[in-house]
Order: sequence, then C-alpha cells, then structure tokens
Amino acid sequence: MSKTIRETLVRSLATGGFVSGQTLAEQLGVSRTAIAKHIDALTGMGLDIFRVQGKGYKLAKPLVLLSKDAINTFLASGKTQTKSIEVHSIIDSTNSYLMRRISSQISQGEVCVAEYQSAGRGRRGRQWQSPFGSHLYLSMYWRLEQGIAAAMGLSLVTALAVSDAIKQLYGLSVQLKWPNDIYLTNRKLAGILIELEGQTSGPSHSIIGIGLNLNMSAKSAEVIDQPWTDLQSHTRILIDRNQLSAVLIDCLQQRLSLYQEQGLASMVTQWHNQDIYLNKKVRLVTGDRQIEGLCRGINNQGALLLEVSGKVKTIYGGEVSLRGEL
Ligand code: BTN
Repeated sequence: MSKTIRETLVRSLATGGFVSGQTLAEQLGVSRTAIAKHIDALTGMGLDIFRVQGKGYKLAKPLVLLSKDAINTFLASGKTQTKSIEVHSIIDSTNSYLMRRISSQISQGEVCVAEYQSAGRGRRGRQWQSPFGSHLYLSMYWRLEQGIAAAMGLSLVTALAVSDAIKQLYGLSVQLKWPNDIYLTNRKLAGILIELEGQTSGPSHSIIGIGLNLNMSAKSAEVIDQPWTDLQSHTRILIDRNQLSAVLIDCLQQRLSLYQEQGLASMVTQWHNQDIYLNKKVRLVTGDRQIEGLCRGINNQGALLLEVSGKVKTIYGGEVSLRGEL
C-alpha cells in the first residue's frame, strides 16, 4: 500500500509543478498527515522535495521517470531485437528480483531497471547506494549455455558493453579495471555484480547487474568510501536514462552474443586499450593476503596476468580486488 502511494506521489511530482497536499490526500484517500509522512519517506530515498505554504510540494529538479515504452522506443532503433523489460519504481534490488525469477519463467536477455533500490548490493557483500531517480540500476538475465566456466569472462564483457554505450552516446572513453569496475578520470563511475546459479557442468544461470553513477547529489556522496565520479559531470549532453538504458541493453546483448559464439579472444585487445592498470604496478588483495606485481592485462579466459619477480601468474576471479599506484 505504502509503495503504491509513494509511486503515485512520484508520478504526480514528476510533472514538474506544485502538487497540493490536500488534492493528493483526496485522490489517494488518505489524510494530509499521511501524505506528509510519505513525502518524508521519499526524501529519505533521495528525492529532493520542498514544500511552499499554500502551494504544496515540488521537486527541486525536474525528473524524467524511467518508462518501459520510452526504453522500447529507443530499443527499436538498436541492433538487437526488443527483449522483455520490467521497469520498477521501488524495489529491493534488481539483481535479487531477477534471481528470484530464475526458478519460474525467465527468458534470455530479460531486463529489470529501477528508480530506487532499498537493498542495492555491491561486490564483496557491500551496499550499493541507490538514491531515487539519480542513477542507473539495471540487471539482465543471461543463460550460460557453456556452463559456469564461461562466467569468468562475463564481467569483462559487461564492462566493455558499458564502455560501448558511453562511447556511442557521449563520445567518452572510460577506463576498465579488472575484473568489473568502470572508471573515468581515475575515479569509479560504475560497478558490475554478476551472480550465478547452476551446476559446474551443463547450462547455468547468470544475473548481470550494473550500477552506473549519473547525477550524484552531495548527500548521497557523503556515504561513499572511495573516489567516485558521475557521468553527467563529464558531458554537456543531458543524460536521458531511458535512452541510456536502451543503448546499454543493446550493447550488452551484442557483446554477450559475440562472447557466446566466439569467446573472449576478439575482445582482449579492446580490454588492453582501456585497461587502467596495464603495465603498471598493482597490489592484488585477497582477504588479508596481498601480492604486488606488474599488471600485464588479461588472457583469453579473462584471467588477470600479474608479473611477480619476472614470472607471469594467472589470477582467476573470485573475491579479489586490484589496487594500483596511479
Ligand atoms: C560493485 O562495484 O560493487 C558492484 C555494484 C553493482 C550494483 C548494481 S545496481 C543494479 C544491480 N542490483 C544490485 O543490487 N546490484 C547491482
């Protein structure tokens, strides 16, 4: 019930003008006090709403909401065929949502995007801050016909797809950090969380989650504990989240299909061209262990090549993180 009321409130506010508390209360069949509480909750979710006595509530900045129709219209001009897309206003996590659907009917390339995640998840059990309407939170289901062994390349393929979409729409070249981060001007722009379900042999399921910073507010930035950036700070083109979602879905499907057919080999050079640490000194952190070496890029399976005392070690994914001396 609260969720429906909040979604209706956001739709009314997104039109841009003042919305009277009294009118909202009558429309929704609740008291004005209840409306005020829901407005407080939306503010807590990251929306900047102010109130003027006698006029009502207004969003501080205009907001174009995510829309399935708009995304599908942009997708129609893309290269891949339109896939099933679900647009949610408020959700726990787009990854969790698709994970829950694996056991029922889910089709290849199915997508879930949301305006707000109450329990957005990052890698290594971290939280992913997901304020309302500010960024992109997108997940896609992809069945791995080759089994879980193919999962290692997935995050690299996804990072390249994010790079393609940003290049195509805004002409910007991002930096890639193994295994699944996207940087711009040496600060984190986007993160990827891949979750898997299935047996070691035979087809398995993957959920590919992407969180891409677009418009970071000062308030949201306070709780981020690493250097970050957002896309709107690097382009004069006003970011249209529906268009960006469509282009990202299109780029992701193209890359995933290519990966399924040919593996990673044809993408390794592209990765190296954008590898933030290529031939630089790095530290590989696994739990409380650290190895120092020179980053020598990736191999055809997507493993990291780390040169330690003149010998190149092959490092497979998992709970590892790479830190550099940039
Ligand atoms: C990371 O860098 O730690 C990965 C962040 C991944 C965040 C995205 S947002 C969409 C999807 N849903 C989630 O709960 N997480 C991913």
